[in-house]
Order: sequence, then structure tokens, then C-alpha cells
Amino acid sequence: MPDYGILMYPSYNRVYFQSSKGLALSELQAAGRKLSQACLDIHHKDIGGVNYIAFSTREPLNESDIQVLSRLSFVYALFILEGQDSPVLHPVMLDSGAVFEDDLVTILKYSGKTNETFTKLLVNIGWLLCDSIKDERVHLLDPVCGRGTTLFQGMIYGFDVSGIELDKIHVEQAVNFLAKYLKTKRYKHKMTKSKMSENGKKLCEITRFETAGTKEDFKAGKALQVNFYRGDTLHTDKFIKKHSVDIIAGDLPYGVQHGSSTRTGSFTRNPEILIGEALPHWHKVLKTGSSIVLSWNTFVLKKEQIADLLKTSGFEVQTGEPWDNGFVHRVDQAIIRDIIAARKI
Ligand SMILES: C[S@@+](CC[C@H](N)C(=O)[O-])C[C@H]1O[C@@H](n2cnc3c(N)ncnc32)[C@H](O)[C@@H]1O
Repeated sequence: MPDYGILMYPSYNRVYFQSSKGLALSELQAAGRKLSQACLDIHHKDIGGVNYIAFSTREPLNESDIQVLSRLSFVYALFILEGQDSPVLHPVMLDSGAVFEDDLVTILKYSGKTNETFTKLLVNIGWLLCDSIKDERVHLLDPVCGRGTTLFQGMIYGFDVSGIELDKIHVEQAVNFLAKYLKTKRYKHKMTKSKMSENGKKLCEITRFETAGTKEDFKAGKALQVNFYRGDTLHTDKFIKKHSVDIIAGDLPYGVQHGSSTRTGSFTRNPEILIGEALPHWHKVLKTGSSIVLSWNTFVLKKEQIADLLKTSGFEVQTGEPWDNGFVHRVDQAIIRDIIAARKI
């Protein structure tokens, strides 16, 4: 039975403080769904005074398993461990299949940005839970996308991405950043703008990018689609084709820095009303076998409340380990964040 050791990113502790070890184990557990075999005896192991996450498998990991592990948000390096007490470390070449570089998600800084490592975790959970098949195109939607952190992470993975955001300035900044990034890095791209209205009333402004990691892919019609919708997420199914989305991943308004607007136009500090109203629309655009992963501030809403709303809208909420408690972590004084994940079956 081969033994493996994962070295975590040195910055991982700074993002999650005391919760980092637990979060890493939870993400690894969630990865089991897309691995060809189980990771056995997952535990923390001290090697030369440095902490590793160790596990064993019955057979050596295959290429697709290595891609799954390479994508996990805490994985800095992977080794085969030879020997027990002071093992010899043999590096395994990581390959996440990235289409764009990580700086796409790290360059833009602003207050209210969802941490990049956490966003990667959110997108990973969505990808691990959905039924997408290797080499098949994946469509990711962030229905509350802010300035696009989730979308940029999706692009790195080569997904088609769509984002919906109410705030005009947020969308403008995301669009301007992406246009400049693609131009500066000389990625082939095309940008188009359009509007959508209903009964003479404007519903949304749409900015679409087509781009690819290489000129060859762009010319061969393999360009990724990146869509920004400046409008209300309650109109999701008017903007986006039904049964076309594989993953919904979003960091909900926190009721601290961001508010959430509702159909009545009122401003509430609690995202419960927003989710309650939006979920039926989100459900319509998702394919069968797709996933929805949301993060939120547990001070403003209990997990059971979101779970009930998801179930009422026809989703199958993930329960047991690691879903019940494995992703809870403190962000700051006012925010304890958690993740809820569900599937459309
Ligand atoms: C926590 S922030 C997301 C931040 C984002 N992940 C990022 O890194 O930029 C939540 C976002 O939801 C947006 N929002 C709130 N209500 C909305 C609605 N009804 N439709 C679309 N977006 C909404 C807010 O404007 C805010 O930008």
C-alpha cells in the first residue's frame, strides 16, 4: 500500500488560523467522490518538525487522482513516503490542468473580497460534488459574484463562467480588470456588451468575454465563455439558459459589509430572504447531477435554515462528515463562516 504525504501551503494557516488543519482534512474527505480509490488512514504526521497530511491508498494514485489532489486549496506539494518513522520523500509532479495562472485571482485587491484560498475551496467543493466528466466542459455560476473572484478561479480551471451582481461598480471593476489582464498578458480574446429588457424595463447589462489559454485553442473554437450580468440574481433564469449550469458557487452577502437587496427593494442585513427568493430561480438553471455550494456568516443565519430552504427548492443537502461541521471557521470578530453543499438530483 503506497503512503503519501501532503505539504500544506505555508500561507494556509494565516487564512484559517486554528481551523486550517480541520479544513484541509475536510476538503480531502470531500475529494473522495472524484478519486478512483479511497484515501485510507488520513492523519497529520510530523516529519522533521514539519506537519504533513498523510494517507495511504491500496493502489498507486492515477493521473486523474493526481489532478484532483493538485487542485485542493491547501496542497503545496505531494510526496510518496518511503519508510515509517523518518520516511524518505519522493516528490510527485502536480498537475491541476490550469488554463490561466494563479495571478488572475490574486492581483485584484479590495475590501469585501472573498479570500482566494477560500474561494478555491468553494469552487473545488462544487466541482467535486457535480457529475462533470473529465474533458467535458463545465459551466460555473456565481449568482452573487461581487468583483469576480469565483469566476476567475473557474477560468483558471478552464470552466465556462457566469456571474450575476447587482452593484454596478463591482461589475465595472471586474470587467475592466479582466480586459486589462487578458490584454497585458496577450491572451486572445473578444469582448461584447449587450442589454436585456422586459416590458420596456432594463433587466441587466451583459458583458461577455471569449478567451483561451492558447492561440491554438482560441482559433480551434475552444474558447472559454465568461459572462458578467449586472442585474438582480432573482432574475437568474431570465439571464441564463435552463439546465445549463454544472456548479453554483457563491459567497453570500454577509450582513456586515454587504447588504442584500430583495424583490421589494428593501435592504436587509439577513441573506435568508434573498436565498429563499433566489433558490427556485437558481434551481431552474442547474442541470441534473449539478451542485450548489454556498458560504455565509453563521451569526446571521443558522445552517438548518439554509438547509430547509435548499430542501424546499428540491435540492439534496449533503450531510454527515465532513459536511455537518467540517468547514466552519472564524473570519474575524463579526464573521464565523460555514459552507453548505447540495446536489440537484
Ligand atoms: C460576499 S459578496 C461576494 C464577494 C465576491 N465573492 C468577491 O470576492 O468579490 C456578496 C455580493 O452579493 C451581491 N448581491 C447582494 N444581493 C444581490 C442580488 N439580489 N443580486 C445580485 N447580487 C447581489 C452584493 O452586492 C455583493 O457584492
